[in-house]
Amino acid sequence: MSYDKCGYDTLLEAEKYSVTAGGKHLRGLILLETAKYGGITADNAVDFACAVEMVHTYSLIHDDLPEMDDDDLRRGMPTCHKKFGTAIALLAGDALLTKAFSVISNDSNFDCDKKIECIRILSNACGEHGMLAGQTMDKLSENKQIDIQTLTDLHNRKTTDMFCAAVKMGCVLGNIPHYIRDQLVKGMSILGLAFQIKDDILDITSDTESLGKPVKSDQKCNKSTFVSTIGLEKSCALLDRLVSDTKMIPVFQNTPFFNELANFFINRKK
Ligand code: IPE
Ligand code: IPE
Ligand code: MG
Ligand code: MG
Ligand code: MG
Repeated sequence: MSYDKCGYDTLLEAEKYSVTAGGKHLRGLILLETAKYGGITADNAVDFACAVEMVHTYSLIHDDLPEMDDDDLRRGMPTCHKKFGTAIALLAGDALLTKAFSVISNDSNFDCDKKIECIRILSNACGEHGMLAGQTMDKLSENKQIDIQTLTDLHNRKTTDMFCAAVKMGCVLGNIPHYIRDQLVKGMSILGLAFQIKDDILDITSDTESLGKPVKSDQKCNKSTFVSTIGLEKSCALLDRLVSDTKMIPVFQNTPFFNELANFFINRKK
């Protein structure tokens, strides 16, 4: 890395490295598809989708740090701290988090009320009662046996809240009627948990090449996961049940994207 007088080039390189490493972009896509349900084009909502993905990528950069899950591979590439060092990885995560809110504030397609509502939703989801609370619980639950209610709460905070934020923001942008919004949020709050249960399952059933991140990472850190708490078989059965429950919700039955999304949450290989 060449000497960077103001630091910006270094930060931007690390941010871009992680953002463009090739994630599934699920949360951004969910936001765009929800807004599309209300007639908003992807072009018009793209700032908001990018903001959600920036927050998500920041959470992964920090999640992989040596003091967190201490993982070396993410999205098939060396983790941000492996490539740039821990200090720059921390700062690149901070920069992405900050930039997400700046991108929403600077958007020129939506009025201030909608932008503030999206900032409120996103900051609540990723903040100290949402994703960060979940990550804290996750850390405090290492080397412990926790009950299933506490584990469900942990997973909902660390993972479901960001999925729900994507849907809620899409609803704001698309002026989605309340009765549809309620169905979408309800479905996503079930699917978000399903997503993290599948993540726990893949950690022990998949391989590093398919996942693009190290397998057995949860065992390595002695994490509380669904697999460690109720076992693999029951975790798979619970995943199936959650996805079936979601598919009973009319908007998930009738809208191809949301129907396929529910299937993907069961069948995904990465
Ligand atoms: C990984 O999320 C973190 C979890 C919440 C399990 P994703 O599996 O959506 O990661 P990317 O964005 O596709 O890399
Ligand atoms: C992380 O959960 C969820 C976040 C909020 C980042 P995991 O630690 O299980 O995610 P992976 O398996 O590293 O992607
Ligand atoms: Mg983690
Ligand atoms: Mg992790
Ligand atoms: Mg995991």
